[in-house]
Amino acid sequence: MSLEIINSSVQAVEIPVTDVEIGMYVNELDIPWLESPFIYQGFIVETKQQLEQLKSVCHFVSVDVRKSTNKRMPKSARSGDYEVSVERELGAANGVRESTRKLVKNIFQEIELGKGIDGNKVQDVVHETVDSVLRNPDALTLLTQIKNKDEYTAEHSMNVSILSAAFGRYMGMSRVEIEEIAYCALLHDVGKIRVPTEILNKEGALNGDEFGIMKKHTVFGRAILMASDAMMTPAVDVAYAHHERMDGTGYPRQLPRENIPQLAKLIAITDAYDAITSTRCYKSARSPFEALTVIYDNRGRQFDDKLTEKFVECVGVYPPGSIVEMTNGEIGIVLSVHPEHKLNPRVIMVRDAEKKPRHERIVHLRHADLDGEGAPYKVRKTHANGEFGVSLKEYLERGLRLGEHPPTGIQAAVLNVSESA
Ligand SMILES: [Fe+2]
Repeated sequence: MSLEIINSSVQAVEIPVTDVEIGMYVNELDIPWLESPFIYQGFIVETKQQLEQLKSVCHFVSVDVRKSTNKRMPKSARSGDYEVSVERELGAANGVRESTRKLVKNIFQEIELGKGIDGNKVQDVVHETVDSVLRNPDALTLLTQIKNKDEYTAEHSMNVSILSAAFGRYMGMSRVEIEEIAYCALLHDVGKIRVPTEILNKEGALNGDEFGIMKKHTVFGRAILMASDAMMTPAVDVAYAHHERMDGTGYPRQLPRENIPQLAKLIAITDAYDAITSTRCYKSARSPFEALTVIYDNRGRQFDDKLTEKFVECVGVYPPGSIVEMTNGEIGIVLSVHPEHKLNPRVIMVRDAEKKPRHERIVHLRHADLDGEGAPYKVRKTHANGEFGVSLKEYLERGLRLGEHPPTGIQAAVLNVSESA
C-alpha cells in the first residue's frame, strides 16, 4: 500500500496514527497484529478508547477508505500526497526540462548579443515547471540529477529553479510565491554570461584576480536584469545577493544577515546543493547526502539555519536519483520517496554485490522487500552519480523511451523491470 496510489482506484493509505479518526477502517499496523491488543486483523475504530490504544502501540497504520464508515480522506493523505505518481509525471517533466533548457540557452545567447530578457517568455516556462512540481516534485527533481558538463550554467540555472520550486512547495508557499521563486532562481546566475569563459571553465582553483572577476557575476546579473523590460524586482535582488552569507562575509556587499532578502537566502541553499552534486572542470560530483552535509555544517555561517533545516527535511537523505549501496553490497537508484518515509525509498536495483550489472528489479524498502538471501534490503551508504558505472541518464532515457509507448509508464517502471511483490 502506498500514498502514491491514493488517487487511483485503490483507496488504502498509510498514515500517521495521530491522523486516525473514529469510523476509519484500519487494515494494517506497523507492528505484528499478534503484538497488538487488537483481536481482529482489520477493524473499524469505533471508540475513543480504541483510538488511544492504537496510538499507544503504533506510529503508522494503513486505512482502507472503502471499508471505512468515515469516508473522509485521512488528513495526512490529503496534504502529503501527490496528484500523480512520479512515473506518470516523468514524461511531462522531461518535456518541461527540454523546453526550459532551450529557453535558458536562448536567453543567454540573446544577452550575449546585447538584447534584453523577455520576462514573459521566462514566465511561461516557469509556469510549466511549477505545474509539474505541483503534480509531483520528485519527477523534475529526479531529472536534476542528470548533469551535462558542457552546458553547466544553463543547466545549473534550470536545476536551481526546479529545486527552489520543490522547496517552496514543501514550505507550503502559494502557487504565486512558488512561481516567483522559480523565476528568480532561473535567472540568479545570469551575470555569468559576462564572466570570461576561461575563468568560468578553468581547471583548478581560481587565483585572487580571477576570483575577483568571478564574484562580479552578481553585479553583472543585477545590471542585466535591471536593463530588461518587465523584470521582477525580487529577481534583481536574488541575482545581486545570492552569495551573501549569514555571517556577513559574503559578496558583493558583505550584507548582514538581516539585510539579505529571504529569497536570496533560500536560493543560496538550492544553488549550493546543485553545484556540489555536479561535476565541474575542477571537481567531481558529490552525492546528494554529502551535499546536504556540507550545507548543514555551514548553517548559521553561510546559510540561514532555519531554511537549511527545512531544506534537509525537504530533500531527505535519499532524494530521487541518489545512487545507493545496500548492506548486502548491491547498488540501486532511488526512484521515489514517500513524504512520510524518507528513510525507506523505492529503489531500482542495478548492480549485484560484486558491482556487476544484474537483472533489474524494483524494491520497496518501506515494505521490507527481501534480497536473494532473504534479508530485508537496507541502505548502507550513498554514492555520487556515475560511481560503479551507474549512469542515471542512461536509465532514465531508457525508461522515458519506454514511456512513449503504451502501457505508459516508466511506470513499467521507469525501466521495463518487474516490481517486487
Ligand atoms: Fe552565483
